[in-house]
Amino acid sequence: MQSAPNLILVGPMGAGKTSIGRRLADRLGLHFVDVDQLVVERAGADIPTLFEHVGEAGFREREHAALASALTGDGQVVSTGGGAVLGAENRRLMRERGFVVHLHVSVEGQLRRVGHDRNRPLLQRPDRERTLRELAAVREPLYAEVADLHHDTEGLSPGRATTELIERLAVHWQRGAIPSANTP
Ligand code: S3P
Repeated sequence: MQSAPNLILVGPMGAGKTSIGRRLADRLGLHFVDVDQLVVERAGADIPTLFEHVGEAGFREREHAALASALTGDGQVVSTGGGAVLGAENRRLMRERGFVVHLHVSVEGQLRRVGHDRNRPLLQRPDRERTLRELAAVREPLYAEVADLHHDTEGLSPGRATTELIERLAVHWQRGAIPSANTP
């Protein structure tokens, strides 16, 4: 297995990419970069405002630019937005520049975690469950395509999911496949 300069987290809304990513970076002594946060900082506007003014397509362009710029660095845990895998160029970049972890959660789990969230424009629809199932049908194959490792976060706290993920990553670590700073 080739060594990768970054650990990249993909997966649906509510899988825990940001909360686990932060903990992972902290525990592994790596920098943490949240691509959504980078988009917001660069645009000077939050995600709902961006969707309102430039639409989903405009958001995806900014997301691609932010991801590409984040992935010029190394030694980072990079958390991506749930739709970042939609772009073929994004997937290529992720595979080239990182060891990709797919954080999985069921639609039921997503509804429990982000069912009432107001900061996710794609969820501001009457039938959230149906929306999440439609998104999953399109995206699950893309998460599967891009990921080196699948990790189920269903029913786990962010802390517990992080600990279990680090235990699993240790195997890849010994093979030199993931970036390291501290020993877990
Ligand atoms: C999106 C997920 C969000 C954010 C935006 C679009 C998506 O990120 O990028 O609202 O398309 O699934 P999270 O997965 O961190 O919620």
